[in-house]
Amino acid sequence: NFVYFLKGLSFIAERIKEKFECEDVLIIPGNSDRDETVKKQLGREAASYLRSCLKNGDVIAVTGGTTMAQVPKGMPNLTGYEDVVVVPARGGLGERVELQANTIAAELAGRLGAQYRLLYVPDNLGPEAMESIVNEPGIKEVIALIRRADIVVHGIGGAEEMARRRGLSESEIRRILENGAVAEAFGFYFDHEGRIVYSTTSAGLSVKDLKNIRKVIAIAGGSGKAPAIRAFLKYHRPTILITDEGAAKKLLEIE
Ligand code: F6P
Repeated sequence: NFVYFLKGLSFIAERIKEKFECEDVLIIPGNSDRDETVKKQLGREAASYLRSCLKNGDVIAVTGGTTMAQVPKGMPNLTGYEDVVVVPARGGLGERVELQANTIAAELAGRLGAQYRLLYVPDNLGPEAMESIVNEPGIKEVIALIRRADIVVHGIGGAEEMARRRGLSESEIRRILENGAVAEAFGFYFDHEGRIVYSTTSAGLSVKDLKNIRKVIAIAGGSGKAPAIRAFLKYHRPTILITDEGAAKKLLEIE
């Protein structure tokens, strides 16, 4: 019955927590690879977790993607967070506008009654163009804010899917995969053991900044994403993982 089922999920959550030294693991029933409504639930769960650890005055950094897009949608309209600032974790990462971090930051701020600051820096600029853009006073200020984020909420994706979604060239995709990449987060690509094997140039938060952040909340589901989730959890500890049953069960099977 349902109570046993939920107990089963919390048992799985405990095992994942121990195995990957997570701060917290929350599992939604179902598999978002097969059922789109599960992704909505993930968004709702992430929104409620975020509320539970949010303090007025915090800076929240968010990434993009279809899963993250569900976080503002799962957040009720709130008050009392006027001094919270929501920012995108990085500049553009080649997503469609409704899936971009900037859009999600503005939507989330709207729900929280908070402020937001946006960052417009295209990906993969040459070093000189990048250098001059990030030194523009307005942009510099936003980047400084991003790097002192208190909470980050982010997606995790499969390496090949994300490289394609971002329109990387075939030769670049081949190089990334030859390097063993299985996961992507924040524009960084990770291999099975959680080692960074490739990164795209983009301004904002670097995965190396994560260790200074109070809460790192990863939201990703679907059994197909288990290898990618595993790689990220190997890279960063302690993560708060919000996932679904499909991914969670697979996560324990992979060695
Ligand atoms: O492009 C932003 C991003 O958060 C990536 O870093 C991540 O790999 C991806 O989106 C996840 O997207 P989705 O939730 O659509 O699978």
